[in-house]
Amino acid sequence: MSFLELAGIQKSFGPVQVVKDFDMTIEKGEFVSFLGPSGCGKTTILRMIAGFETPSAGTVIINGRNQNELKPNQRNIGMVFQAYALFPNMTVHDNVAFGLKIAGMEKSAVDARVKEMLGLIHLGHLADRFPYQMSGGQQQRVALARALAPKPQVLLLDEPLSALDAKIRVSLREEIRAIQQQLGITTVFVTHDQEEALSISDRIVVMNGGRADQIGTPFDIYNKPATRFVASFVGTLNMIEARVADPATNRITIGDQGITLREPLGSTLKAGDKLSLALRPEAGSIAEGAKGDTALTGTVVSSNFLGSVIRTRMKVGDAVISFDMFNAPGLTPPAVGEVATLRFTASDLLIIRE
Ligand SMILES: Nc1ncnc2c1ncn2[C@@H]1O[C@H](COP(=O)(O)OP(=O)(O)OP(=O)(O)O)[C@@H](O)[C@H]1O
Ligand SMILES: [Mg+2]
Repeated sequence: MSFLELAGIQKSFGPVQVVKDFDMTIEKGEFVSFLGPSGCGKTTILRMIAGFETPSAGTVIINGRNQNELKPNQRNIGMVFQAYALFPNMTVHDNVAFGLKIAGMEKSAVDARVKEMLGLIHLGHLADRFPYQMSGGQQQRVALARALAPKPQVLLLDEPLSALDAKIRVSLREEIRAIQQQLGITTVFVTHDQEEALSISDRIVVMNGGRADQIGTPFDIYNKPATRFVASFVGTLNMIEARVADPATNRITIGDQGITLREPLGSTLKAGDKLSLALRPEAGSIAEGAKGDTALTGTVVSSNFLGSVIRTRMKVGDAVISFDMFNAPGLTPPAVGEVATLRFTASDLLIIRE
């Protein structure tokens, strides 16, 4: 049996249904991210797991036990929020000790546990500081230590990094992942930052309007997006409108150029039907000697230097296709107006069906 189960979860606020038939199982020790745009129901699901919100239908099960009738403080769950929710009038030590004292732990055990937790987040030297005397990143590490101190069975993190600046965000997400793996704690992490979700998760749930569009490993979510929404939300993507030329041979056309797809077109498409294809910018290259069984010729409309890559846009029929080349010494970026041939592998073209 899975450690955390969300079965048939629905949530309505008045007439508005914000979570629709949500089903998912999470294994013990797994790190799962909920990724999706603002308002898609991520926080609401987290709050139902924690017990701050009651599902309109469905069950939350943790370690085989139905949680629906349990209050938040009976669920043994640790939570970290976006805003620094430390007690402002308490020191770091007292913040981390808070949950332990409430649980009735005796002072020497509390002190030992706080010391252990502050060691975990490398802030042992700041035990006597107050929250206002620390940076945002330090405060969030204390919030993490406070959440973990009572040894929760599940850790919930609601956009804990979104108020921090870019560099700290990256280092802290790696620290969170390392601590999570060290403790083996089952974790649900909410974010709307796709790079964050891709980089630290065992699995990602891509949410769209109260539903899960896709649940999968970062690799699968990125390389095999199940829907148009997932394809466009995760990573940069070219959406290319094409037409079916011959369904029997998987032949399609983009503008007036023919291509044979690797993925079968299926029996529902006929010659002349429209079709949406997706291609990642890193999948193609116009460099001399570029490899690939497929080619499209077009005219370069722009070329932007982005540092590590050069992103070039090329017009092929009515479609504009972006692709990236790694920066390298001696590289000559393509010139606007130049006619170029983009090579890629046919299997990199994904058919987007919904
Ligand atoms: N207590 C409430 N009463 C009424 N509507 C609510 C309540 N809480 C959330 N909602 C609505 O439910 C929807 C989902 O909200 P939720 O906070 O779960 O979104 P989210 O995915 O976490 O978004 P964000 O990325 O902006 O945090 C929103 O439309 C929100 O306005
Ligand atoms: Mg939210």
